[in-house]
Amino acid sequence: MNPQQKNLDSTPEDKGWHPASWQAREAKQQAKYPDQAELQSVLKELSGLPPLVTSWEILTLRNQIAEAQAGNRFFLQGGDCAENFAECNSEVITNRLKVLLQMSLALTHGLQKPVVRVGRFAGQYAKPRSSDVETRAGVTLPSYRGDLVNSVEFTPAARRPNPQRLIQGHASSAMTMNFVRALVDGGFADLHHPEYWNLSWVQHSPLADEFQRLADSLGRAVKFLETISGRHAGSLKRLDFYTSHEALHLHYEQALTRIVPRQQGWFNLTTHFPWIGMRTADVEGAHVEYFRGIRNPVGIKVGPDASATQLEQLLKKLNPESEAGRIVLIHRMGASAIEAKLPPLIRAVQHTGSPVLWVCDPMHGNTETTSSGIKTRRFRNIMSEMETAIELHHQHSSYLGGAHLELTGENVTECTGGARNLSETDLNRAYKSIVDPRLNYEQALELSMLIVSKFEKLS
Ligand code: PEP
Ligand code: CO
Repeated sequence: MNPQQKNLDSTPEDKGWHPASWQAREAKQQAKYPDQAELQSVLKELSGLPPLVTSWEILTLRNQIAEAQAGNRFFLQGGDCAENFAECNSEVITNRLKVLLQMSLALTHGLQKPVVRVGRFAGQYAKPRSSDVETRAGVTLPSYRGDLVNSVEFTPAARRPNPQRLIQGHASSAMTMNFVRALVDGGFADLHHPEYWNLSWVQHSPLADEFQRLADSLGRAVKFLETISGRHAGSLKRLDFYTSHEALHLHYEQALTRIVPRQQGWFNLTTHFPWIGMRTADVEGAHVEYFRGIRNPVGIKVGPDASATQLEQLLKKLNPESEAGRIVLIHRMGASAIEAKLPPLIRAVQHTGSPVLWVCDPMHGNTETTSSGIKTRRFRNIMSEMETAIELHHQHSSYLGGAHLELTGENVTECTGGARNLSETDLNRAYKSIVDPRLNYEQALELSMLIVSKFEKLS
């Protein structure tokens, strides 16, 4: 059955939902705006602004997720932990797109299946925090909650939640989206070509021979394709990148939630693929209430404390008709916890019979702080969680159909290890993230090759 056609006899409104119904629930991780009148006037303005994506793109993505659920695609979701307005520029966007495109090519070729490319971009501006406030040298101010809310500098003015930032967030997302669409449509094709890949790191890896084999075979495949088709392998003609962000700031999401002519139901038109963060996935909470009524595919972060019962209830609430293409479960357990925590959840979901796409986020369970206070992640742990995830799903007759990664196309030093074996002292050299540490260009490519290699060993 076409996943788009099912479940449209009863509308979400029949079940008491409307775009503001979340407001009757407890909403965690929300900004506390000192000036409510200003907030309301900004939200009114926002609700009149054009959407950032379209319903038909969202429905196409849903179909592709349904195919991934059936084992016929791999889902690659990656980008910054948080975007910031200052980095809404051509270099950062181009490099991020380049690494995602090259990773997806390595995966497509190695896994022999098409890859769904989803950026954590064009709207990833709101962050959950462990505390509402931050204290430095006896001064307490509101925590930084992402550029959508306030600014990172530690001054009262910068940390004051400022509703005007919602308009800036919409504008920066639109600029990013516009540039991504232009790049994908036009002059980006060359990045498929082996000469645009920086593979100098390969020789430093203990797996140098294997990686060189994968890289050479990929180069030959691109050339072969061009020879037989007589055109550039990279002439992508339609939008081939989807956007995603954590739909955390519910007032912002609500303002861009719309009914679309000739479509049934409501769409969140800020992004193709909004996800629910681990801290806001309460079954009775505001975020789950909001997500219940939109037709976008929905990601749910699943942490080590998630129970089988919670997952069953979430599936029932967010996908009552068990529609294909609707739910993506993104587990983020940590390398040391995954083996104990994941299998009962896989079994519970299998028992429901409801289709999901399982994706592994090997980043968020592996964050640690060095003795000098720098937040980092070890490549070894990231790799280990990813490999264990592939193996566990395989053992349980399930399919690990994707990876969710924090990465950048820049040459940063935020995660240790990888082929060049970055050490803790390297972290001082090029650490740019103001939130979580990201894989750099080389580490991201290395991880995609490791994923290929792990799947090859299983088959
Ligand atoms: C994130 O993806 O940046 C994040 C905060 O993740 P989680 O909700 O899984 O902790
Ligand atoms: Co993060």
